[in-house]
Amino acid sequence: MSESTELEGRRFPAPEQLAGQANVGPDVYERAAQDRLGFWAEAAERLTWAQRWDEVLDWSNPPFAKWFVGGKLNVAYNCVDRHVEAGHGEQVAYHWEGEPGDTRTITYAQLKDEVCKAANALVELGVQAGDRVAIYMPMIPEAVVAMLACARIGAVHMVVFGGFSSDALASRITDSGAVLVVTADGGYRRGSPSALKPAVDEAVGRTDSVRNVLVVRRTEQDVAWTEGRDLWWQDVVDRQSTEHTAEAFDAEHPLYIMYTSGTTASPKGILHTSGGYLTQVAYTHWASFDLKPDTDVFWTSADIGWVTGHSYIVYGPLANRATSVMYEGTPETPHRGRWFELIEKYRVTIMYTAPTVIRTFMKWGEDIPAGFDLTSLRLLGSVGEPINPEAWLWYHKNIGGGRCPIVDTWWQTETGAHMINPLPGVTSLKPGSAQTPFPGISAKVVDDEGNELGDDTTGLLVLTEPWPSMLRTIWGDDDRYVDTYWSRFGKQVYFAGDGAKKDADGDIWLLGRVDDVMNVSGHRISTTEVESSLVAHPAVAEAAVVGASDPTTGQGIVAFVILRGSAEDSGDDLVKELRQHVRKDIGPIASPRQIMVVQELPKTRSGKIMRRLLRDIAENRELGDVTTLTDSSVMGLIKDKLPAGS
Ligand code: PRX
Repeated sequence: MSESTELEGRRFPAPEQLAGQANVGPDVYERAAQDRLGFWAEAAERLTWAQRWDEVLDWSNPPFAKWFVGGKLNVAYNCVDRHVEAGHGEQVAYHWEGEPGDTRTITYAQLKDEVCKAANALVELGVQAGDRVAIYMPMIPEAVVAMLACARIGAVHMVVFGGFSSDALASRITDSGAVLVVTADGGYRRGSPSALKPAVDEAVGRTDSVRNVLVVRRTEQDVAWTEGRDLWWQDVVDRQSTEHTAEAFDAEHPLYIMYTSGTTASPKGILHTSGGYLTQVAYTHWASFDLKPDTDVFWTSADIGWVTGHSYIVYGPLANRATSVMYEGTPETPHRGRWFELIEKYRVTIMYTAPTVIRTFMKWGEDIPAGFDLTSLRLLGSVGEPINPEAWLWYHKNIGGGRCPIVDTWWQTETGAHMINPLPGVTSLKPGSAQTPFPGISAKVVDDEGNELGDDTTGLLVLTEPWPSMLRTIWGDDDRYVDTYWSRFGKQVYFAGDGAKKDADGDIWLLGRVDDVMNVSGHRISTTEVESSLVAHPAVAEAAVVGASDPTTGQGIVAFVILRGSAEDSGDDLVKELRQHVRKDIGPIASPRQIMVVQELPKTRSGKIMRRLLRDIAENRELGDVTTLTDSSVMGLIKDKLPAGS
């Protein structure tokens, strides 16, 4: 048996103590299967409704769903006020830590005051229910306050990741028609202040919907100022009253738009609404992470510019009255132990992060986490890409101390909340597999014609029933919504765009986007599978694999690998050995046609490898658009490594 297969065969049963006290037990699957809508209605009961719904789901006009029809609630009230009213005002909502080491502790009572003040400020600036508000911020508490203030008055927030360019911001402002931009002078990134306001000035200059720019003073950098348009947060928000009555909005009232990083030219504005979204993020946060509001300290390491930040830094944790850690900066600033230092300092019990981060930590070495007290941790989460079994085991051993279950959560910007993941007190874990559809979720693996496949097969992932936190449309483009997600297999079946495999036990393994699944000589091979094999080799730190068109085999496998420090000078023999390793691990068909040793891989700012660019190189084409790369010089470095003439 090969090394990867052997690892994939290992099982990690739910720890007894956790299982005995878990928020949800094994009966949950049965309950949800017997009465799916009743199950979600019960989940919705965990929220506070100003008016109860008449109907759980209206699916009379698919794919346009309405959840909790007739119900009314205020999302911000559910996240903040009701906890204060219940006597938990002194509980910490956020332990916030700035990159330079400055800290703020924000209780639920303080958060309520800040959100009310910001809501009053928005009203003063003429923002009304239904208006769009762009938020372009560093990871500071005001970003959360701004989101909640929008939710409180029924305005629709549209957060743009602070690492995006002014172009990206401008196109999103234009598409959404935002009337206000909330931003900051800058934030701290890799040890120095990084300006945000200039990008806003540039973007707003090219759009015509924005009336005001509200600027939080964070770094004290000099900023250009447009009188009449620009306002300091500290001037406008701080003087407002802490009283604001939260109006209840319809369950289907729009809550936010989040643009997905485009594989196509124009970004898609994914629209989420209120009641169903909050129901599913709150319930999944509570069940997937076994969240105990009185004792847990929860940390999602994402940026609020991504859906993970929206659902599991802001809405889920707050709706559940969690105490969270929020961190402004990067993992290596000022040193590579920064995250572990934060876990130790705040006694974090639940950590939720991405496999790319885990692999970076692996590259840095296990001595770093070993230098900190991580014994407070009891549960770990993973999101964003398939977690290869080697990274899973490393995470389990070196961060989780061998005792913490790892909950690998598959979901998307479009799904709003967790969709496929094990439950920590129930599931016997399999490193590398997201395993089981969440209770109340219908996920299937189908072939190209939409026929459901049996166990031990590979196909496309689809969702066959609507779910509460599903996207409702693409902002301003219902047709594109239908075409992109609900046309391949008809209007009742959501096409996720991911390849998936069901193993002999019926557990689901996500195989990456379908455009990343290769077809070599008629055999379907996942890029992830080859990558996982490569990173299982001791000399490899990171790998990215693409299918390059090949006149004989359809596609050929091209791998880009970063070597571990000690292996960096091993040369051609090592490349041969790696090819042999994959051949042995998966089969001759999976052996890469070409392996290129590189120093860096091109990644978007959210940490996703841009395979499109690697395919351009592998297929010897002009490079496509590199503007969303973290570091556009990476491509030059890779090209320099190629043999002459390629
Ligand atoms: O391909 C899947 C991958 O990320 C895609 C969704 O990306 P995004 O909308 O940016 O949301 C990321 C955070 C939820 C999916 O189509 N993906 C996400 N989580 C996993 C995953 N692939 C495998 N395993 C996961 N746990």
